[in-house]
Amino acid sequence: MIKLNTFIWKIFWILLIVLSAYYLYSAINYRFFNEGLGPTFWNKQFWFVSHLITAVLPLILGPFQFWVWFRNRYIKLHRLLGKLYIMGCLLGGLTAIYLGITQPYDGSIIPTLLLATLWLFMTSAAWLTVKQKNILAHRLFMIRSYTLTLAFVFLRILSDLVYEHNFLAFIDNQDVRDATYEWMSWVIPILVVELYISWIPSIKKNKRKITSS
Ligand code: HEM
Repeated sequence: MIKLNTFIWKIFWILLIVLSAYYLYSAINYRFFNEGLGPTFWNKQFWFVSHLITAVLPLILGPFQFWVWFRNRYIKLHRLLGKLYIMGCLLGGLTAIYLGITQPYDGSIIPTLLLATLWLFMTSAAWLTVKQKNILAHRLFMIRSYTLTLAFVFLRILSDLVYEHNFLAFIDNQDVRDATYEWMSWVIPILVVELYISWIPSIKKNKRKITSS
């Protein structure tokens, strides 16, 4: 019989993959076919295309990198895909900074820039720690980096909830509503992850120390 924990994790990953594929399809459809990429190469066709082909790497590769069976069996491939993951985050983050500064939604500029900067930081930290062979720290920074990658998905889930299901309807001003869910799309996931990987474990550790002394 499969353990309940394993079963829940499987469902969780399947859900993440399906949602990533769905929102990737709808974002490409929206930007590349409906809205358009802008009138000229620099404004902003180059930036949209570069952002998509780099940021898509961490979105696709993330699940493979966390899959224990795959990592144990194909360690060399895990290392190669890890390099591609890091390159994708760094270039995707840099292009996101440009797109973030030049986007027309004033209230989204700060949360987007902060998200892109944190994404660059967590991914660089994951790379530095694996170079130092600090595997525990590497794992934690990879979890943070991938959580921020998934802001792409959470943002669009929230947008659907706001525009199709009256979520945040108590906020009358549309710009304030948009800025609010832009912040929520990455602040809430990273707080939940910190609670799970860092804060709760550190409380448990202290408790053990006090009782053992
Ligand atoms: C987590 C850090 C990320 C940040 C800060 C970010 C930021 C941005 C920004 C500012 C735009 C332009 C929005 C506009 O001008 O209308 C954009 C568009 C886009 N991004 Fe990202 N992005 C991130 C991650 C990703 C990931 C992981 C993917 C996966 C492929 C992705 C795919 C896209 C696509 C397809 C578009 C065009 C669709 C649209 O405009 O909504 N991004 N991104």
